[in-house]
Amino acid sequence: MNQPALRHVDNLQPAWQQNEDRIEGMLQAVLTNRFLPQPDQNSVFVGDGNYRAVGAEFLGHFIRMGGLQPKSSVLDIGSGIGRMAVPLTQYLDSDHGRYVGIDPVEDGVTWCRQSVTPVYPNFTFQHVDIAHELYNPSGRINGKALKLPYPDRQFDFAIMTSIVTHLPPDEVLVYFSEINRMLKPGGRLFVTAFVVDGIAAKDEHGRRDPRLAFVRSGDGPCWFVPGLPPLAAVGFDDGFLDRALERAGFTTVLKSLGHWRGQSAGHYQDVFVAERRSVSG
Ligand SMILES: C[S@@+](CC[C@H](N)C(=O)[O-])C[C@H]1O[C@@H](n2cnc3c(N)ncnc32)[C@H](O)[C@@H]1O
Repeated sequence: MNQPALRHVDNLQPAWQQNEDRIEGMLQAVLTNRFLPQPDQNSVFVGDGNYRAVGAEFLGHFIRMGGLQPKSSVLDIGSGIGRMAVPLTQYLDSDHGRYVGIDPVEDGVTWCRQSVTPVYPNFTFQHVDIAHELYNPSGRINGKALKLPYPDRQFDFAIMTSIVTHLPPDEVLVYFSEINRMLKPGGRLFVTAFVVDGIAAKDEHGRRDPRLAFVRSGDGPCWFVPGLPPLAAVGFDDGFLDRALERAGFTTVLKSLGHWRGQSAGHYQDVFVAERRSVSG
């Protein structure tokens, strides 16, 4: 007698493993897909590292650490030249998922509009003329008075990768509060940062990334790199971002310290995932 069902027994994998295999397969496909848009090397103003590899890595972090779902509606603050957007095109559901990127640098927004949106119309990019002393010195909008042009409770997931690492603390507070307003209850914010904890502070000349020889600045929570403009790289006292998130209406569901401080970790910058608390009434 045939026993076809038995033939599958050897292939049984736990559900989480199947899921993990699927994620890994998708990330590999993002890495090797030569049809995905890729900006010219000279216009990649988002920092060092391989554009595609960093994007694929973060897509993995959004899913595994942040719980991002294919049907999510995503807001990417400081979307730059699409490093996070391009891999997300391979994950977000074309009918139900949505992506909105905003950035003060017009060139990056223009590239994304021309290279991503025509093929992925659920991906849109908006130039917001926020002043920033390095990225947009003549910007007309003061980041301390920022009001983003989106209604309340629009998004499931907000991204800030390598953004608070370039912002003064008062602008971080404004952003957290604006993002909280625009997220649905239970929606999540994924933030990367440099948290100057005891180990990072002690390790100034030790194992931590030598480019980030942070020294404390004044009485505030900030650490800057001597010889660089202050907003080229900002570190924050451990606890500052935790309190800022709490104050803005978030509960931090994950805080994972990165390997920039010289300790082993699966990512470079520190990562926070925070969830918008539901409000009664
Ligand atoms: C290091 S890049 C990171 C870009 C992108 N998030 C990524 O990971 O590829 C920093 C980005 O922050 C943007 N930026 C600077 N000031 C900003 C502000 N006040 N609000 C939002 N984005 C800002 C810059 O234009 C730039 O695209």
